[in-house]
Formats: sequence, structure tokens, C-alpha cells
Amino acid sequence: MPPKDRFKKISNNYGELFSEVFAVQGFNYEELEKSIFDTVSRIEPDLIGSSILDIGVGDGISIKPFVCIGCKKLIGIDLNQEMIDSTRTKFGDSISLFKMNATDMTRFKEGEFEIIISGATVHNIPKTERVKFWKEILRLKPKIFITADKIKDSDTTKHHLDYQSEIEAIKKIYGERHSLKEAKEEWLDHYKCDEKEALDINEISNNLGEKYKISTVFEMGLYKTIIALRK
Ligand SMILES: C[S@@+](CC[C@H](N)C(=O)[O-])C[C@H]1O[C@@H](n2cnc3c(N)ncnc32)[C@H](O)[C@@H]1O
Repeated sequence: MPPKDRFKKISNNYGELFSEVFAVQGFNYEELEKSIFDTVSRIEPDLIGSSILDIGVGDGISIKPFVCIGCKKLIGIDLNQEMIDSTRTKFGDSISLFKMNATDMTRFKEGEFEIIISGATVHNIPKTERVKFWKEILRLKPKIFITADKIKDSDTTKHHLDYQSEIEAIKKIYGERHSLKEAKEEWLDHYKCDEKEALDINEISNNLGEKYKISTVFEMGLYKTIIALRK
């Protein structure tokens, strides 16, 4: 059984280094994360006044564009205190931050957020625990739920090619370019676990589909941005 905080081991070697993993494949990690903001800002007329929760705020890449336009009600949660501290250092009190598990957000009330965003987080929640997470999303009942995440493609050949490309990129960046042998091995273990615990669109549709209209709005390698709009 995977640990509750699967991201903890690799969190020290995330940020800039992980962006390099994208760059070496010809991708841009910030562009993936920004697809969340771009999509939401196209459909939500009052973004600045909306109450927005970022699940797995990490070091703030997903929420940054919302901070930049001056959104007034930004809340971020994360399981990992170091990631929260890093976001606080970058953004001060423009985001209210809480250490919290996405599978238990009982501190928040139904309807408290018009918009819930999440970047590269849901796939880190162990599959059996994710059932609780989807229930929490249904309970919180946002108008929009959007996630840019590692989401397994139904085309197995495409998935395999994208997976191999990212594994090679991890080896190149962590192993060769930065000589971080231990970090490289931790990431490779993390990816093996991701495969076993894979998140796919069926899981999202099965859990949210009755109440939400689900669509894919952006794709980059192993990652997709999925939006769920309340029916
Ligand atoms: C890959 S980072 C992404 C951070 C940020 N959203 C971004 O895109 O840069 C994933 C984050 O999810 C957090 N996380 C993982 N499982 C979580 C859970 N069950 N509840 C809350 N946060 C979680 C990790 O601590 C980590 O900060």
C-alpha cells in the first residue's frame, strides 16, 4: 500500500528541476499549469471576486496567475508543510494556506468555493483514498472543478510512448545533468507507483459524471487538463 504522502520524498527535488524534465521533452510545465487559469478565465466572468480553492497548492505554480491578476479570495491546501512554507515565502498573505489532506476537507462548507483548481496533485493521492477525495468534491459542490494532472490516456501506445519519454527525461535531468542519483531513483520509483495507481478519465467520469459535465481542454505528454462543470 503506498504511503499517504507519496509526494514527500521527491518534494525537495521538484520546482525548477521538474520544469527541466518538461523542457527536455520540448514541453513547458508552466504552460500546462497555466491552462487551468486560461480555461477558467474564459468561462468565469467574475474571477477576481470568486472564491477559489487550490488543492495541492505545492509551491504555487498553479495558483500564481490567479494571484497575478489580483484575485481576492484564494485558498490553498497541501499535505506537506514545506510546500506550504515555500508558497507563503513567494506569495505572502495573498493566499490563505492550510495544511490539510484533500481526502478530508471538512473544515470547508458546501458551496464555499465557486471554483476548485488542482495541478499535478490528484494522481498523488493513493487510488483507494481517492474515493474519499471525489466525495469531498461532490460535497463542496463548486461550479467549476479543474485539474491539470497525470491522466492515463486510453490509447495505450500513446501512453507508453509518453511514459518512456518522461522516464528518459527524468534520467537525463536528475541523473546526468545534476548528478542527483538518489533523487533520480526516488522519481523512478514514484513513476512506477503512478502506473499502478493511475488516474484516468473514466475514474473522473464515474465519480463526478452524474453531477458534472466533464471535458478535456488541454494535453501535454502524459498530462491532461480536465474541466468538470456543474450541471
Ligand atoms: C506535483 S506537486 C504540484 C504542486 C502545484 N500544484 C504545482 O502544480 O506546481 C503536488 C502537490 O500535491 C500535494 N499533495 C499530494 N497529496 C495530497 C493530498 N492528499 N492532500 C493535499 N495535498 C496533497 C503534495 O504535497 C504536492 O505539494
